[in-house]
Amino acid sequence: MLTLNFTKFPILETERLILREHDLADAEALFAMRTNETVMKYIDRERPKDIFEIKDFISRFRNGYENGDNLAWVIALKENPKQMIGSVGYWRTDFANHRAEIGYMLHPDYWRKGIISEALKKSIAFGFEVVNLHTISANINVENDASRQMLIKHGFVKEAHFKQDYYFKGKFLDSEIYGLINPDH
Ligand SMILES: CC(C)(COP(=O)(O)OP(=O)(O)OC[C@H]1O[C@@H](n2cnc3c(N)ncnc32)[C@H](O)[C@@H]1OP(=O)(O)O)[C@@H](O)C(=O)NCCC(=O)NCCS
Repeated sequence: MLTLNFTKFPILETERLILREHDLADAEALFAMRTNETVMKYIDRERPKDIFEIKDFISRFRNGYENGDNLAWVIALKENPKQMIGSVGYWRTDFANHRAEIGYMLHPDYWRKGIISEALKKSIAFGFEVVNLHTISANINVENDASRQMLIKHGFVKEAHFKQDYYFKGKFLDSEIYGLINPDH
């Protein structure tokens, strides 16, 4: 069966970026992103109330990694590796079916510079070649065209459109599911 157990956290590098483990020192940066309504416009999740909640969030990611439940990277520029500017990761994994759901976000100061594209390419390659995933999925709010275009650019195809399957803040929202099959399988 597929696992997400590594002897040490897999730090990844791309031309401009370092993808590293979440740290409690990232709390301010993550709080700023998760309370920024431009970033969160199509992310239908409760906003954190305070920095303590974010620290708890980070501790849960770290435990999730230790327990082999998830694998999420902080995105930082190589020239400033301590400053979190975004995240990418496999938040939910369906181990029996070798399938994981990818998610990503980036601080708006860095949008449209190809950063998530660069991070996504590397994390997808890692998911297929090292983790041995068979498929990668992504779940988007149907209005999130930036994310949809990103997924299409990376070869994902639309697999499903669920009608009103997600309840958030008093509304039942549709979801679109995109998928990518491991080309080497
Ligand atoms: C979606 C998001 C991650 C894009 O990150 P980014 O680093 O700016 O994207 P990139 O520069 O790598 O763009 C790659 C491709 O994505 C698509 N794209 C990115 N932003 C777009 C936008 N605003 N409108 C339409 N397409 C967009 C384009 O196809 C683009 O390719 P191109 O530049 O050759 O046209 C970023 O806007 C973000 O963090 N949004 C808020 C969080 C979010 O919605 N996350 C996804 C949840 S499912």
